[in-house]
Amino acid sequence: MTNPATAQTSQKPVLVVDYGAQYAQLIARRVREANVYSEIVPHTLSTEQLLAKDPAAIILSGGPSSVYADGAPSVGADLFEAGVPVLGICYGFQAMAAALGGTVAQTGLREYGATEVTLVGEGRSILAATPAHHNAWMSHGDSVQQAPDGFDVLASTAGAPVAAFAYEEKCLYGVQWHPEVKHSDYGQQILENFLFNGAKLEANWTTGNIVEDQVERIREQVGTARAICGLSGGVDSAVAAALVQNAIGEQLTCVFVNHGLLREGEAEQVERDFVAATGAKLYVANEQDRFLSALDGVTDPETKRKIIGREFIRAFEAAEAAIVAEAADAGEPVRFLVQGTLYPDVVESGGGEGAANIKSHHNVGGLPEDMQFELVEPLRALFKDEVRAVGAQLGLPAEIVGRQPFPGPGLGIRIIGAVNEERLTLLRRADAIARAELTAAGLDNDVWQMPVVLLADVRSVGVQGDGRTYGHPVVLRPVSSEDAMTADWSRLPYDLLARISNRITNEVDGINRVVLDVTSKPPGTIEWE
Ligand code: XMP
Repeated sequence: MTNPATAQTSQKPVLVVDYGAQYAQLIARRVREANVYSEIVPHTLSTEQLLAKDPAAIILSGGPSSVYADGAPSVGADLFEAGVPVLGICYGFQAMAAALGGTVAQTGLREYGATEVTLVGEGRSILAATPAHHNAWMSHGDSVQQAPDGFDVLASTAGAPVAAFAYEEKCLYGVQWHPEVKHSDYGQQILENFLFNGAKLEANWTTGNIVEDQVERIREQVGTARAICGLSGGVDSAVAAALVQNAIGEQLTCVFVNHGLLREGEAEQVERDFVAATGAKLYVANEQDRFLSALDGVTDPETKRKIIGREFIRAFEAAEAAIVAEAADAGEPVRFLVQGTLYPDVVESGGGEGAANIKSHHNVGGLPEDMQFELVEPLRALFKDEVRAVGAQLGLPAEIVGRQPFPGPGLGIRIIGAVNEERLTLLRRADAIARAELTAAGLDNDVWQMPVVLLADVRSVGVQGDGRTYGHPVVLRPVSSEDAMTADWSRLPYDLLARISNRITNEVDGINRVVLDVTSKPPGTIEWE
């Protein structure tokens, strides 16, 4: 497969130069929240390479180094002569001070966590509309002792005599603290002061503009050819398909491989609600039997995943061949494959400047590498919350855009033991009850996802009415997380847990026990298999 051009929108970016801490993505997101387009770039780019990206402004991020450490990343002084507005944050602030002739010293006075900032004079420049004293999140050992020539000191802290500075005529600014973290009071205000008052940018990164821009780009890329898009039932593929449908209409065919491992209502969401909302042409491959017979008697989790992945590829290829043949009869080639790759995937795989990035983990085992399609990836510039906003703007139902992450192999990896229709039916019912109660309690946004797991090989004794039961337990696994890499178990209210437990044991014949998983990740993963 070939990768499309790396430029992702027609907007000039605010470049966030990543000095290697975890904050660059956060800064980029805060800039987007101010409705300004931002992109993350590695600090290894030269000034020339940075300027070649035609940035609207540049933000130098924090980083773990000391500017005096051997091999510490530095910034060329020539960057500050290019007429591009620059904001240095934390390490970026110190690197900027050092490059321009200020003094940065290791005073031995470290500041970590909430620290009081005291303004020098009135709140002005990037500190406009912030009070004389406020709390900010710090994380530094070195500090700027003397600002470079021409810079005006805006604030100090106990450990940093120069905690913020500005050279207004040159649009150069810096702060020692982290305005991007929520613990910094007025952090967003400071970023917006830089973007709108300092760099004089327009707030034009809006959902409406994103849609318009992407629709135009898709039309340009695809022309009159045809495209196909696999729908998984998840948010990303649904929004990517809806965008492409908006751009090229009838030239797009969506493919939905129903592997029979989805949750209650999900196949209908794709087949009925998605189609009703978008008018997309949908090819449904009902392959439940194929998957169930391939999974018959299999209990090992990795073997299950491999089987599901393999069968998915076969089913998708069969569907694709049918669509390609039909298109060829009509004389129009299928040249493009739509993928819902998101910006964090692009950044994590090296900034989108390398080869095509197809995450097998997220595509039920991945699509075949040798498919002869060019990729259309209209979400490559977007964070997840932006994807949801675009989906809502395109009229996708709330149940689709608000959907929690769900693994490609579906309920196949939430049944501990062999998978069969009877067990799937039990789990689907239990899962639907748990989800409905979570939604009714208004807590959808408080949990990242809440798998319900059927311990199909375990039975325990219970009593219901006058009779003894010998049923299966289900596990509730509600977790809170930022990115699924780490997670904590969600402290759901007892009343809610009681309602879920009562309803499942009363309404789902065969389940007589509900247990709660109170393990963080690590050591537990989110899914049980
Ligand atoms: P774990 O279980 O590794 O899951 O903590 C992290 C996140 O990834 C999802 N997940 C998957 N998604 N295919 C997917 O598309 C998979 O095979 C798969 N396994 C786990 C999981 O739901 C969680 O959001």
